[in-house]
Amino acid sequence: MTARHFTAAIVTAVAFAAVSNAVIAQRRATVTPDARLAATPPMGFNTWNKFACNVSEQLIRETADAMASNGMKDAGYEYVVIDDCWQVSREQSGRIVADPQRFPSGMRALADYVHGKGLKFGLYTDLGRKTCEGRPGTFEHQEIDAKTYADWQIDYIKVDWCNADDLDAKTEYAHFRDSLKKAGRPIVLSICEWGTNRPWEWAGNVGQLWRTTTDISDRWTSVVNIINANADHAAAAGPGHWNDPDMLEVGNGGMTADEYRAHFSLWAIMAAPLITGNDLRTMTDETKSILLNKEVVAIDQDPLGAQGKKVLDTGSGTQVWMKPLADGSKAIALLNLNARDANISVGWSDIGIPAGTAVSVRDLWAHADLPLHTDSGKHTKDRLSVRVPSHGVALLTLGAVAAPKR
Ligand code: GLA
Repeated sequence: MTARHFTAAIVTAVAFAAVSNAVIAQRRATVTPDARLAATPPMGFNTWNKFACNVSEQLIRETADAMASNGMKDAGYEYVVIDDCWQVSREQSGRIVADPQRFPSGMRALADYVHGKGLKFGLYTDLGRKTCEGRPGTFEHQEIDAKTYADWQIDYIKVDWCNADDLDAKTEYAHFRDSLKKAGRPIVLSICEWGTNRPWEWAGNVGQLWRTTTDISDRWTSVVNIINANADHAAAAGPGHWNDPDMLEVGNGGMTADEYRAHFSLWAIMAAPLITGNDLRTMTDETKSILLNKEVVAIDQDPLGAQGKKVLDTGSGTQVWMKPLADGSKAIALLNLNARDANISVGWSDIGIPAGTAVSVRDLWAHADLPLHTDSGKHTKDRLSVRVPSHGVALLTLGAVAAPKR
């Protein structure tokens, strides 16, 4: 090895130093036992984006069947969550009642069914007097609701904040966390107050995820607004406690395939919960190729648990986002917000790699390694440039190049 190669090898080792298992373990150990419920961002399905109030036990059974057999379970999706509208009233004892027409077998039987598929089951409530759709809320019923959910063997509860204007969010959500603890079953607590009370400042030891924005819709402008808002809170995310930029719209029909790939890529770069919101029973091959892209899911689920950030904004509609990964490599998303295709360039100095470092580059949508960035095989380059479609991304991982054979 020549002196030049030796120097390059050292530079490479420093640029891509893997985060040791000890550091990852320490990052995880600092979180409470509750936080270990979501050491990586939760993955699953929720009824709201596609089905709104049209929920039923048949839908949930068929969704669980689909998730268990169409590759989603293998890819890491595990929670099947019923959002608003499953509840109709309370018994005299105060116990909440599931809609007997839509859920004739009852929630415990449904939980058993979902568990029988090797999956987990979730429900929705609201800490106000009524849910957003006017169903009975958990106000003044925190203990009994938590106990009922534990009796039903649920694993995940999304907790909304409609009709709660006169209440203090921090107090109420902490009370609900304590009620779940008392009920004695580990249940993921998904906080949904839309970022109104700055949950990134206090929710890390209350729930495992908290919404940072208003509701997503199945439109590109919604995705763009959400990523900008969610990005501001990157420092609050880590193993056990995640910013939640809302559920996915991939496969719901309102965006192009490029837009859906960008949506999914940015959620992965931001270590967001991957809660699908489409009909899992009737997915097209294109939708499957997005939601089941294991290389992209692996970026989201990386054990370091760092939320990626925007590192470069050209001001002319192209951006670079970067997420450091546990093995020392870096995931980058080159995002094109323009109405036409664009070449997006990123210099090593923009992403913390010393100029001249040999870098291996993998394209996670093409499932291919890009040619090594060298100059006549002698000098490494210090930047890369990729053609990115309108409203699309290139999602790449950049890693160390194996040391040259002597
Ligand atoms: C709120 C939440 C949504 C959904 C609906 C249900 O708007 O933010 O995600 O749960 O309520 O009514």
